[in-house]
Amino acid sequence: MKIVVIGGSGLIGSKLVIKLREHGHEAIAASPSSGVNTLTGEGLAETLKGASVVVDVSNSPSFEDAAVLKFFETSTRNLLTYEADAGVGHHVALSVVGTERLSESGYFRAKIAQEKMIKNSAIPYSIVHATQFFEFLKSLADISFDGDKVRLPPVLFQPMAADDVASAVGRIATGSPVNGTVEVGGPEQFRVDDLVRRRLHALKDPREVIADPKALYSGAKVSERTLVPGNNALLGKTAFETWLTQSAAAGVAA
Ligand SMILES: NC(=O)c1ccc[n+]([C@@H]2O[C@H](COP(=O)([O-])OP(=O)(O)OC[C@H]3O[C@@H](n4cnc5c(N)ncnc54)[C@H](OP(=O)(O)O)[C@@H]3O)[C@@H](O)[C@H]2O)c1
Repeated sequence: MKIVVIGGSGLIGSKLVIKLREHGHEAIAASPSSGVNTLTGEGLAETLKGASVVVDVSNSPSFEDAAVLKFFETSTRNLLTYEADAGVGHHVALSVVGTERLSESGYFRAKIAQEKMIKNSAIPYSIVHATQFFEFLKSLADISFDGDKVRLPPVLFQPMAADDVASAVGRIATGSPVNGTVEVGGPEQFRVDDLVRRRLHALKDPREVIADPKALYSGAKVSERTLVPGNNALLGKTAFETWLTQSAAAGVAA
């Protein structure tokens, strides 16, 4: 199958392209660095020719409210239009567990807009809701740092390794469209503040992490279960400590 991966140079996209090729598919990594831009339409018609599936794992270069909304609205509109012209039969998009509960956040309003456009289009689709990536924990500390301390709400979350996300997206992309949302999550639950503290400790980052029930998560108020998937979620296999050991080893090798 020809499968075009939009955002194929990114964290998830690059892993996904490798996995799809290992399974014998013609996987095309498409992004501005390879001449395909979903904001301008550059390279899209050419890349989508003969494609059965398009997987959108792109992300906005800016997370500022207006910029991120513009990114997901424009890129999704362009993609769906070019996919209809090319006769693509399955649009797969990666989004986040709890997106519909996080509309106070500009980033999540943009993901809600992206999902709405996909659901309203005529193209069969699968939306994958993944929990936070382990790789994202340091960025979560950065966006939650007030210049003195990292403040995070001590709510539950169930993050997962990017590699497991890519495997799940690959399985869904090569199956039939579900015309709905599939949830994927990690194998263990943690408290957000606790895991970010452990990640910073492993990175020898001296910033103190405070459990603050009033702190926002990416600009949104969250409660105990806002970030955790439901009972039917597919679970990744990589435990946090295993990932930590593997990523430390990869860092040493690099
Ligand atoms: N972070 C989390 O914990 C989390 C959890 C669940 C779901 N997600 C979702 O996962 C998705 C992928 O995240 P990621 O961390 O893998 O992203 P990433 O590493 O930041 O990669 C972003 C990708 O988007 C591409 N891109 C940027 N502008 C583009 C454009 N105009 N046209 C086409 N491609 C463009 C980039 O291409 P270039 O390299 O060529 O610039 C890059 O390949 C996001 O949609 C996010 O919402 C994230």
